[in-house]
Amino acid sequence: MRKIFALLSVMLMLSACGGETPKMEKNTVPKLSDVPLGKLVYKKNCVLCHGAKGNMGLNGSFDLTTSKLTLEERINVITNGRNTMTPYKSILKENEIKEVAEYIETLRK
Ligand code: HEC
Repeated sequence: MRKIFALLSVMLMLSACGGETPKMEKNTVPKLSDVPLGKLVYKKNCVLCHGAKGNMGLNGSFDLTTSKLTLEERINVITNGRNTMTPYKSILKENEIKEVAEYIETLRK
């Protein structure tokens, strides 16, 4: 009789927390959406030539803080490259190019 009671309480404990745990683990993965995608893409791909503030100018990299290009033109330069600037069409996704083009506008003075 005591054995059955023990078994029952174990089953109760299992059913009390069963099912929920895996879902909760998925939700604890840090959210990348807290950092704007354009900023992430810039840090990863553009900082080494343009610098964190956009004005480092390594090897003639254009100073992005004084750039007067429109969003369309920036997307074009990033996608197809220009002179020594790398084309990103095979490196970044279309939406990443758009996001980073929007992000660099925030670097302007
Ligand atoms: C290998 C170094 C290098 C990297 C990496 C690089 N750039 Fe450039 N970028 C340049 C150079 C050099 C120029 C000037 C091109 C020219 O002389 O026509 C330039 C020009 C530009 C321009 C044109 C600015 C203007 O007003 O004419 C934009 C916009 C730009 N880069 C954005 C980016 C973005 C966004 C990234 C990251 C996805 C990036 N660049 C990564 C070197 C680089």
